[in-house]
Amino acid sequence: MMKKEEKYKTVLETIELLIKDEDDVISVMSTIACELYHAFEHFNWVGFYRLVDEKILKVGPYQGKHGCLSIPIDQGVCDKCARKNRVQIENDVRQIPYHMACSGETNSEIVIPARDKKGKVKAVLDIDSTEINSLDEIDENQLKIICEKIYPDKQ
Ligand code: SME
Repeated sequence: MMKKEEKYKTVLETIELLIKDEDDVISVMSTIACELYHAFEHFNWVGFYRLVDEKILKVGPYQGKHGCLSIPIDQGVCDKCARKNRVQIENDVRQIPYHMACSGETNSEIVIPARDKKGKVKAVLDIDSTEINSLDEIDENQLKIICEKIYPDKQ
């Protein structure tokens, strides 16, 4: 079986190739969601929430069953990631009182900020996993690299 690092390497290469000449953020997000979702069997939801203003996150391109359309301020792991501008890894979501459950199949979750050039959070990449304790520093580091590709020199 291919190791996690190797899978991420392949995913990253594919994403880079596909978005090489693309500067539309939605197209880039859609491609990233698609590639990640299909690369890892335990990922049951991969997608983006965008900060449409300071009080609300709205769903963006995603793969998986339907996700919450909006996440209000102070609710959910995604909002925490956006407000703190910091990766959130929850390896047992049932232990997290503020976790917003979109699917009963989800057991762990990672959320990564997608920042513009100035470091401001514009969106978050949210990944749900069916497996408990399935997310770690490898996911964090690789997904950060992928998220840096979304707003390379745009505002
Ligand atoms: N679990 C997220 C909500 C979004 S769904 O997982 C797709 C959260 O707690 O912010």
